[in-house]
Amino acid sequence: MSAGCNTFEAVKALISSAHKSCTAREKINFYNSWAENYEQDVAVIAYHAPNLAASCISAHFSGDREAAVVLDVACGTGLVAKQMKTFGFGHFVGIDGSEAMLKLAQDSGLYQDLRQSMLGVEPVPFPSDSFDVVVIVGALSVGQIPVNVVREFCKSAKPGGYICMTTRSNVDNLEYKAALERELKQMEHEGLWTCVEVTEVQDWERAVSEHEEGYISGVVYLYKKQ
Ligand SMILES: C[S@@+](CC[C@H](N)C(=O)[O-])C[C@H]1O[C@@H](n2cnc3c(N)ncnc32)[C@H](O)[C@@H]1O
Repeated sequence: MSAGCNTFEAVKALISSAHKSCTAREKINFYNSWAENYEQDVAVIAYHAPNLAASCISAHFSGDREAAVVLDVACGTGLVAKQMKTFGFGHFVGIDGSEAMLKLAQDSGLYQDLRQSMLGVEPVPFPSDSFDVVVIVGALSVGQIPVNVVREFCKSAKPGGYICMTTRSNVDNLEYKAALERELKQMEHEGLWTCVEVTEVQDWERAVSEHEEGYISGVVYLYKKQ
């Protein structure tokens, strides 16, 4: 596909092909090949999850935003940090499995530190209790970050810190979403965190699978570490 002229049909075909990648390594290879066109392509499907997550965090965060250290998990090219910066946050650390996505995040100039890590296979490469905010957008779904890794995100946050996560609610992702919600509730039951907000969003992004039309829905979850 040539840069700057992607139609919805072309983007739909591309993303549908990625949803068929089953292993994390296949997904990362897909992101390596997609990195250069990622931002313009997600704009075509009206992807605004980074803004929804940033708004949710902003609505609840009452500390010093410039000083707060934000861990952007699966940071991709940097869309989440870009949105959070508009809400006054200024210190970002990123993790991603894809070298090519990380290169673009580096070029954005938004991050103080970037690390490559294949989550689910490798650990979060930072000490526990380090971050005021941990945010994960667009990577909690089948073939990407396994559900049990959310425990590591909670560990990475400081006590009293926020953990913001998003997932899709469309048919292909319902099984993953149910498993994720079981884990989130179980962790609340264990006293690891408390639920601050769960927001279901109808017009999450444009549908790209063969059996869906219009917009699919999605969810933003916000938890506070105990
Ligand atoms: C849809 S993009 C989202 C990027 C960014 N958060 C955003 O909202 O634009 C998903 C990102 O997750 C990364 N990713 C997927 N599975 C991963 C894994 N197991 N470990 C680390 N990164 C992963 C991909 O490389 C990709 O950059």
